[in-house]
Amino acid sequence: MTKIDVLLGLQWGDEGKGKIVDVLTPNYDVVARFQGGPNAGHTLEFNGMKHVLHIIPSGIFHKDKINLIGNGVLIEPRIFRQEIEELAAKGVDATQNLFVSKKAHLILPSHRMMDAANEQAKGNMKIGSTLKGIGPAYTDKIARSGIRVGDTLSTDFRERYELLKEQHVRQAQTLGFDIAAFRIDGMSLEEYEKVWMESLETLKRFRMVNSEYFINQCLKEDKKVLAEGAQAMMLDIDFGTYPFVTSSNTITAGVCTGLGVAPSAIGRVMGITKAYCTRVGAGPFPTELFDETGHRLCELGHEYGATTGRPRRCGWIDIPALRYACMINGVTELYVTKPDVMNDFETVSMCTAYDVNGELTGEIPFEYNTLPIEPVLTNYKGWQQSLQGISEYAALPEALKDYLAAIEKQTGVRIAAVSISPDRKDVLFK
Ligand code: IMP
Repeated sequence: MTKIDVLLGLQWGDEGKGKIVDVLTPNYDVVARFQGGPNAGHTLEFNGMKHVLHIIPSGIFHKDKINLIGNGVLIEPRIFRQEIEELAAKGVDATQNLFVSKKAHLILPSHRMMDAANEQAKGNMKIGSTLKGIGPAYTDKIARSGIRVGDTLSTDFRERYELLKEQHVRQAQTLGFDIAAFRIDGMSLEEYEKVWMESLETLKRFRMVNSEYFINQCLKEDKKVLAEGAQAMMLDIDFGTYPFVTSSNTITAGVCTGLGVAPSAIGRVMGITKAYCTRVGAGPFPTELFDETGHRLCELGHEYGATTGRPRRCGWIDIPALRYACMINGVTELYVTKPDVMNDFETVSMCTAYDVNGELTGEIPFEYNTLPIEPVLTNYKGWQQSLQGISEYAALPEALKDYLAAIEKQTGVRIAAVSISPDRKDVLFK
């Protein structure tokens, strides 16, 4: 029986996972998503075209690969249908190689309403949610009142749907939320519900499987399987910067619960990190830069959310957080993205420890959200040259290689490859 490899983000998301998965996909037979939902935005660029995927695994552009949406994922049928239609417009027929777990939970229109109602009620403790209904849908899953993809085939589906929706309406009313004024893509709840129900028919045309058997059978047949993470380590519900997190386990352990594979079946764990750091939404971010350098990182790195278009907060790479991520996920190799964004920088800095009230620590403190954390920075000479046209790791500028070597030394994990442009051809393996 072969093992399942895992690929995940080690920071606060947007590390460039979609692109690395796309590059690695030729080595795999199956690409599977195990958590998250349409809050994700995986950007892939090739042949001069840009593609953003939200729910569908990044292997979809390869006809001969199986793509699986696992039980741990949340599906919003209208967003799913939109993605399918966008793919079809690009000549990609997903009906042939996309499989959906019967146990994946659905995001109802009223989950999206509850996301907005909860955020509004939180006032200045807002999470900065993508408002796709993630928190409320996972809440219902845990509360054992959620509706799963397979349930859409049952005769009492509509009854259960109405019951859950009524619950949400009552909750929203209690929170003083203005339901009548609420809109999703310009539509009222009722209007959106109609489109949502129609979209469900598209979803039902896909092959629904008992994905835990499906994936284990793939492994038994020695098919090579890649589990594609969404969001990232520092947004994990247990180990991220709670409560400023998403509502799923984004870590390697999430692969076991989100696909139904045993811990002993986990193989390589590929962790993606940017050469600097970004975060979108609220929550602590010790290395955040509020100055011109932060602004340059945002502009040069085109750091605007793939799902929401919001500008991302930018800062230096955070080694304590990265080390923590390597520990929790058992990362076996690192992929570093976007060093090219800093090509013009005279100096590139790295946070190697935190100064908390005069005491140095390399650990993530429990009081991460409230303590005054000052990053302790080590400066590296910038490489100050374009990386365009470089096709081998060995040919990278010495100053960049020194910086990358420092990341390896600080984390104790080897770098497998570095990505120097948005294009899939510019991933240089070491
Ligand atoms: P939610 O998962 O939409 O509720 O959002 C919770 C937090 O996670 C917010 O700060 C979001 O900005 C962040 N988040 C959710 N999905 C992503 C992602 O794919 N990339 C980066 N941040 C994300």
